[in-house]
Amino acid sequence: MLLNGKKIVVMGVANKKSIAWGCAKALLEQGAEVIYTYQNDRLKKQIEKLVETSSDLIECDVSNDQSIDKAFQFIGEKYQKIDGVVHAIAYANKEELSGNISDVSRAGFSLAHDISSYSLLAVTKYAKPLLNDPGSIVSLTYFGSERVIPNYNVMGIAKASLEAAIRYLASEMASHGVRVNGISAGAIKTLAVTGVKDYNELIKMSEDRTPDKKGVTLEEIGNTCAFLLSDMASGIVGDIIYVDKGVHLS
Ligand SMILES: NC(=O)c1ccc[n+]([C@@H]2O[C@H](COP(=O)([O-])OP(=O)(O)OC[C@H]3O[C@@H](n4cnc5c(N)ncnc54)[C@H](O)[C@@H]3O)[C@@H](O)[C@H]2O)c1
Repeated sequence: MLLNGKKIVVMGVANKKSIAWGCAKALLEQGAEVIYTYQNDRLKKQIEKLVETSSDLIECDVSNDQSIDKAFQFIGEKYQKIDGVVHAIAYANKEELSGNISDVSRAGFSLAHDISSYSLLAVTKYAKPLLNDPGSIVSLTYFGSERVIPNYNVMGIAKASLEAAIRYLASEMASHGVRVNGISAGAIKTLAVTGVKDYNELIKMSEDRTPDKKGVTLEEIGNTCAFLLSDMASGIVGDIIYVDKGVHLS
């Protein structure tokens, strides 16, 4: 029970295939109390099917500062303090996840970076007054930040930005006793991935490149997330941990 007594905000559960749901399950198994945020009413209905009826579900659209502010104010009033945040949020328009990267629109580039990278900074800003010392923030990234993955395009650039944001935030938040880290997860078929053209190829490539030819599971990603949120990971600061079954080796 690595997380006994800890209250963790999990952002990004869209359905049972979401990485955020894999994380939430692992956190619950390790004794944490999980507070969920959702993007909009359509997604709230999806989370309601998964979680205990007593769980708190709080609207938080990260494209809107007021929404983030309101969500964390509510969390502060109800829980006073929290011990961690899981940020498992990304978005790019489907038309930006195919073709030539040089054709990406200014608006599409901006949107991908706003939702997939800036949102971690904004969430940290509003979560900061609530976070206990020690505290921990974990975000989700992908290898497409470092290598060219066909069609991942603007999201790869946004993930590189997110990883830099993790390092800068880790440096700032250290004085508050809060560690910030990222998990670079192997490809898993989720709603977000289906936006990438020929996403089946991307997932197949990820599975074929693992030394044991088996793709990573939600449980494996969730378990690492639980560890990073726990005090056992106190020495890990501003790092990006691969949880991809070794895809990054080749
Ligand atoms: N699936 C993979 O192969 C893979 C691999 C590595 C990293 N990741 C990352 O994991 C994270 C979670 O994605 P996933 O694959 O579980 O897909 P998912 O579709 O299940 O989750 C994406 C979440 O982002 C949320 N979101 C999008 N725009 C938002 C907004 N404006 N406000 C609030 N929430 C918003 C969605 O509601 C959804 O819950 C993402 O950062 C993704 O890039 C995924």
